[in-house]
Amino acid sequence: MKRIGVLTSGGDCSGMNACVRSIVRTALSRGIEVYGFKKGYQGLLDNDYRSLTSQDVSGIIGRAGTFLQSARCLEFKTDEGLKRGHENLIDLGIDGIVVIGGNGSLTGALKLHDIGVPVVGIPASIDNDLYGTDMSMGVDSALNVIVNAVDMIRDTASSHDRMFIIEVMGRNCGYLALASAVATGAEAALIPEVPYNLDDIARRLKRRFKEKKTNSIIIVSEGAGSAADFAAKLTEKVGYDIRVSVLGHMQRGGNPSVFDRVLASKMGRNAVLALEKGESGVMMTYCDSVYSSITLTEALSKQRPLSQSLLDLAALLES
Ligand code: F6P
Repeated sequence: MKRIGVLTSGGDCSGMNACVRSIVRTALSRGIEVYGFKKGYQGLLDNDYRSLTSQDVSGIIGRAGTFLQSARCLEFKTDEGLKRGHENLIDLGIDGIVVIGGNGSLTGALKLHDIGVPVVGIPASIDNDLYGTDMSMGVDSALNVIVNAVDMIRDTASSHDRMFIIEVMGRNCGYLALASAVATGAEAALIPEVPYNLDDIARRLKRRFKEKKTNSIIIVSEGAGSAADFAAKLTEKVGYDIRVSVLGHMQRGGNPSVFDRVLASKMGRNAVLALEKGESGVMMTYCDSVYSSITLTEALSKQRPLSQSLLDLAALLES
């Protein structure tokens, strides 16, 4: 193996830079050159790449975002796009590629594998919606951003005896909402996987107010509906002063946590070693503190179950 490619694709997340750094330095230490493609699959189609040196990845481990930049490339999803990407890889003499991204990006990686390109995927999405890994890259950093924000909102909520509905990301997956609800002591979490009962939530909140617990936080996953809609419905039921806060894209920024830096570095190194061993069509995983891999086919064909123990804990601790 003489030359590999790397790209970061889809929604960015903290840890992508640390991961590219690890891939570059691992590969260089084994005599393998690394081409970094800009803006995900778009760079592959446009031949927008450069050979990365150890110096190129210096000083980026603590920075969020991705210096290679990222994009959601619709053209690559077409047969012509895939063909052009494949041809470009052959012309550039690339022996394998590491794709860092979420669901859509890894689906592209599987397509490359299916037409014969050696590919290793690294799960990176703050949503934590990929099957086969306990944690995807970026999740822990996003949770830290959410928890800091919710703690600050709790400060003002308590000064004003207010209820806040806080919307967090998670297109189809309630992990961020549920984990952050547990970590901030939120009164409830609304997630796409479990339908909520408005009357039950209203009853609980009224009881809290009677008990003079006059500030409340409810965390809503974007996949469960908009916080504004929910606040309107809840206001009709309880008649309290409710404020809405949508955390938005700040959740994808901020310095990567220690956990994400280590996870990104280990998965990056393991991806290069896997390609070198001739593995392809696999996604790096982290389960029960063990780093391993599963096939992309399995990772992409199964739905990640929401942890029942986390659900039970959230329900137990809500008041
Ligand atoms: O996939 C991660 C995610 O953060 C989702 O939770 C969110 O819906 C989406 O990306 C928004 O991404 P963008 O604004 O980049 O399309």
